[in-house]
Amino acid sequence: MKINGELKTILEKFAESGWDVIGEPSRAYLDGKGDWEALTAAVKEADMTCGSCGCEYDPLYKRALQLLSGKPAKVSGRTSNDFCPQTMFLYGTYREDGAPNFGLFCWFSYCWDGGLGAMACIGGSTLTKDRINAAGVFSANLVNEPMLPLADYLGNTKGYDEDKMNVPVDVMRGAVLDVPVLSDSPVSFELEVTKTVPLDGSDVYICKVRNVLINEALADTDTSVEQRLRAALPASTTCATYFSNAPKAKGAWGEAMKAFKK
Ligand SMILES: Cc1cc2nc3c(=O)[nH]c(=O)nc-3n(C[C@H](O)[C@H](O)[C@H](O)COP(=O)(O)O)c2cc1C
Repeated sequence: MKINGELKTILEKFAESGWDVIGEPSRAYLDGKGDWEALTAAVKEADMTCGSCGCEYDPLYKRALQLLSGKPAKVSGRTSNDFCPQTMFLYGTYREDGAPNFGLFCWFSYCWDGGLGAMACIGGSTLTKDRINAAGVFSANLVNEPMLPLADYLGNTKGYDEDKMNVPVDVMRGAVLDVPVLSDSPVSFELEVTKTVPLDGSDVYICKVRNVLINEALADTDTSVEQRLRAALPASTTCATYFSNAPKAKGAWGEAMKAFKK
């Protein structure tokens, strides 16, 4: 039987503990001679006897029991946000010559600041950042699946390349702010920067959402949220890869908890 790495490390510690209760069953299990029930019973006994004495073994009994019951093993990986899918937005700004520029960004989330706000983190130095610093406003246009080829291009081409925006994109003006908006994006935020937080290698822009432009069909409340989300087709990204989403409603807020047993 294959023992996962995390459980193996814990059992090796138990085996070397010199305490009969866990030492022998752990060694037997590691050698492929023990059985799951005997080991689980031994670890339970150890946990009951001295699971809160304050020694380094206390959390290991509890963790071993979780792993023996089939919980997934964990390893410390490299620092990344892999497997945490994010939606993507094309930030629109006007260049100094008045032409629109768009760049692709995913370090974006929401906050509350007397009204709906947004937090956008931009690293390094980009045309988008320079134009946000100059104008204090930008648009954030949700990327959906049909827009992925364009979005990938705009995320991998520098705004300072003269030719970047020589591409077929339909642009309109924001309804409230002087920002360029992508006509094909299902949801566009018009954002005004209220605070800039400089970090080591990036800047976080705290913004007030001054307006949200959404496709008229998404405002049709006669259609379910699931149907409207399927029509909007937002794409996501993680592990440096783009993903489609096939949205399946899993319950409203406050409803999903009904399946949770205390
Ligand atoms: C999928 C994807 C997501 C990105 N997200 C961010 C981000 O959140 N923050 C950032 O600083 N750069 C991000 N970038 C890099 C910018 O898109 C890139 O610097 C681009 O050139 C910016 O456009 P600009 O040069 O016209 O300003 C991302 C790139 C890709 C491909």
